[in-house]
Amino acid sequence: MDYIEIIGGERLEGEVTISGAKNAALPIMAASLLAGGLTVIHRVPRLRDIDTMLRIFHHLGVRGEFVDKDTLEIDATTITDCSAPYDLVRKMRASVLVLGPLLSRMGQARVSIPGGCVIGPRPIDLHLKGLEGLSARVEIEHGYVNATGSDLVGAEVYLGGRYGSSVGATINLIMAAARARGTTTIIAAACEPEVVDLCEFLNLMGAKVSGMGSPRITVEGVDELHPVEYTIIPDRIEAGTYLLAGALTGGSLAIRGARADHLDSLIEAMRGVGIEIIREGELIMVRATGDLKPVDIATLPYPGFPTDLQAQMMVLLSIVPGISVIIEKVYPERFMHVPELNRLGARISLEGAAALVRGGRRLSGAPVMASDLRASAALILAGLIAEGKTTVRRVYHLDRGYERMVEKLTALGARIKRIEDG
Ligand code: UD1
Repeated sequence: MDYIEIIGGERLEGEVTISGAKNAALPIMAASLLAGGLTVIHRVPRLRDIDTMLRIFHHLGVRGEFVDKDTLEIDATTITDCSAPYDLVRKMRASVLVLGPLLSRMGQARVSIPGGCVIGPRPIDLHLKGLEGLSARVEIEHGYVNATGSDLVGAEVYLGGRYGSSVGATINLIMAAARARGTTTIIAAACEPEVVDLCEFLNLMGAKVSGMGSPRITVEGVDELHPVEYTIIPDRIEAGTYLLAGALTGGSLAIRGARADHLDSLIEAMRGVGIEIIREGELIMVRATGDLKPVDIATLPYPGFPTDLQAQMMVLLSIVPGISVIIEKVYPERFMHVPELNRLGARISLEGAAALVRGGRRLSGAPVMASDLRASAALILAGLIAEGKTTVRRVYHLDRGYERMVEKLTALGARIKRIEDG
């Protein structure tokens, strides 16, 4: 299996362009199932998760393919199957996002229940609560969700969960409500920019969604939606990862094409550490200057600090002198990267959902193993500053969510290569 080899110690310099957001592209692809005809989506990143969604589409009898480097065409004129099988869903939990659109368009959907994953248990109870709120019948059988209901009816649904709002459940409910009879009000809706992007896409299709970006979203059902052409927002997690890479290596980077207003919590935390971040037109510039100091952060639903940047931020804090505390409030068990970072010389201890990062460490290269998508990015960042050689295995996780990361880092001056191994 391929692995990545990094020789640490290079300062990153130059400019990097951010790709489209995976977590906006996946729901927007799913929403294209709501309309017959040809949908065209621009700025779609070339990632394994996008391929997995396309494989689900092929299973549904829907044509979907890239027609140039980042433009995807989806033709959902006919749908011949209403199910997402276990073999595909287990590869990507976001497969469950076809539930709402299939139910709305076909009156039925059968989707395998995704299992837990390395970042902890990931239930879908809120997704099902949302659909039941619209009068769908939902049954669990043989590991599948069977949802039926050809006459969905708008309702008021409270979607808050134990860990706050749910991005996926909010998205599934909005998609199911778009063509339901009457008005749906979602209370405790997720406010993530990817939810807003989906709503903009749906409104262009003829839906009537308002309040997106706030915890109260209203969806007035319409009879029909039509296919459209749309451009996805830039990936805030990829942008944040490069901002951290620039800061960590003591370099000076310019990030092109990202939305700084989607990165407020990260920018605030990095400025708290003493990193200089400046917006200049289309660019966000990052530079490490002077003394760095520790910060305490808690991951939270948007606009709080994103859990998807927790592992990468931990790498920065492990070299900042002093003690920082990171509390993981979205996925309390999402710390699989900690023992691997400690192998590289970090000094991080865990107490429940809190990580105590004793900073000021000099990292030294070693073989490490990626456990999930964002953990793999964190290990690569650590490799960039570790003295000597770091090898990161199980890099297929990286292929799920970072477009051409090795090429992008190489262009910034990193000594990094991907090695094919059997
Ligand atoms: C999305 C992102 C993922 C990110 C996560 C949190 C996509 C494709 N993925 O995942 O990268 O890490 O948001 O920002 O957009 N929960 C329940 N019941 C449910 C659903 C969720 O209890 O029915 C819990 C989860 O276990 C978790 C929290 O709610 O603790 C937030 O999860 P959620 O926002 O749903 O994450 P995803 O949409 O799966």
